[in-house]
Amino acid sequence: MDLRNSPYVPGAGTRPVALAGRDDIIERFDVTLSRLEAGRADTAPLIMGARGSGKTVLLNEFGAMAKKRGWFVASEEVIPNTPLSSLIAVLAHEVLLEMSTRHRVAANVRRALGVLKAFTAVSALGVSLSIDVDAVRGTADTGLFSRDLRRLFTEIGEVAKEQSVGVVFSLDEIHTLESDELSDLNSAMHRTAQLGLPVVFIGAGLFPSWQQAGRIKQSPLRLSSYVARMETSFVRLKPLDSAASREAFTAPALSEGVDFSDAALDEAVQFCQGNSWLIQLMGAEVWEVSSGPTIALFDVQVASDRVRQKLNQWFFPRLTRGCTDKELEILALIANGSHHGIMNFDSVSDCANSLQLDGAWAVRYALTELAKRDLIELEYTDGPIYDNDGFGVRLSVPMMDDYFRTTGGIFGFSAVHHTNNEKSEPYSRPSELPGKSNVPRELVTPRPGAGRDGEGQLPAWRGRPGRTKEEPAAMRLRHRRRLPQR
Ligand SMILES: Nc1ncnc2c1ncn2[C@@H]1O[C@H](COP(=O)(O)OP(=O)(O)O)[C@@H](O)[C@H]1O
Ligand SMILES: [Mg+2]
Repeated sequence: MDLRNSPYVPGAGTRPVALAGRDDIIERFDVTLSRLEAGRADTAPLIMGARGSGKTVLLNEFGAMAKKRGWFVASEEVIPNTPLSSLIAVLAHEVLLEMSTRHRVAANVRRALGVLKAFTAVSALGVSLSIDVDAVRGTADTGLFSRDLRRLFTEIGEVAKEQSVGVVFSLDEIHTLESDELSDLNSAMHRTAQLGLPVVFIGAGLFPSWQQAGRIKQSPLRLSSYVARMETSFVRLKPLDSAASREAFTAPALSEGVDFSDAALDEAVQFCQGNSWLIQLMGAEVWEVSSGPTIALFDVQVASDRVRQKLNQWFFPRLTRGCTDKELEILALIANGSHHGIMNFDSVSDCANSLQLDGAWAVRYALTELAKRDLIELEYTDGPIYDNDGFGVRLSVPMMDDYFRTTGGIFGFSAVHHTNNEKSEPYSRPSELPGKSNVPRELVTPRPGAGRDGEGQLPAWRGRPGRTKEEPAAMRLRHRRRLPQR
């Protein structure tokens, strides 16, 4: 069919024709806006979910809903290594400037800008905002970020309330914030809620399984009360169920007068396993393959092959780029030991044994690192994992298990070498990948400069600034069998 008419939109944050399976969450946010407008306390849950589950799209939808009601909406994406204070200063500035244009520069907006100016001078060092009023000292400039943030939000909330409007602060990719920062944000939002002010913070990020992984064997008593309470204010976007997946396929097609045969729809739904992004990708491929107006099973089968090829040749290699050899080994072990992409463990030490890691600390560290980069998710747990708890680890994207089973992840590195025009390293020492495949060791060692997220060439296990010294030692790999020497 003509690509010009394709209603499928695989991408990041691209609004689908049908925002399937999210009615409850959208309805609940509508209630939040109504409650805040009526001066009743409410907060919005943080949206968490795996890559491609539809977080950004939902966040944008929330922003659009608020805008429709005349609220001020300021959105940003968290930039790794940028302090929250700077992001908040930018958001607050945007909102106050918009308020000042819409309502001319009323005295209270000028005051709030002055408070922000003082806040910026003390907390958000490094951002330069041109604020054309005198700083108002003594409100949000103590230097205690948590307290200053509360006061700043309260100040903005009071201005908004006087003008009978609300304010939405929206931050995407919040998983890159430190948990202290998240806790400060949460405490600020609870403060404005306690005061009945129309300010709401909406955020989206990867499911904080990395936080849970990080808490294996840690006492929950060490969590601040706000972090502990935040656990209840997450909405986790699960894969779309069968009905929602069907709608995500059929509604866009119908908008162009196209439908699916029953068998084709079953096959397409099963293939995508509820992953929103994959549904859009599959839709786009099948649109190209089919001559319509009814999409047949054969079309879906051909499109499946094309999607699988795209994932294997392009998506997974990029996803795993920057993995160390040990991380690839872990992922390959999970893939080989998994059923439908999930590997279950009876306890933390069972996990250490199966993944050939050196004890509970190494399990926590390895799973946290992999989950932070959205390569895995923890299953069956919404709380801390103790030594004897059973839990599961799921590869974060459908068909990643097949990719690792068939390639051991090495495809990724050859693709990286290829695209960067770098010479492949000669393979001198074969390594025994536990499980099935034998993979040349050098091939699974990240090439120089394959660091991730601006980490440059730091060996991944050697940690980032601020990590403790004991980590590299604790990450000593426990090879059960000696590598053959050449
Ligand atoms: N509820 C949904 N129904 C159908 N498609 C969706 C839905 N949510 C997201 N998508 C599609 O999935 C893809 C990824 O969405 P995005 O919001 O960027 O995900 P995330 O931010 O979680 O990575 C986009 O192509 C988007 O159009
Ligand atoms: Mg996103």
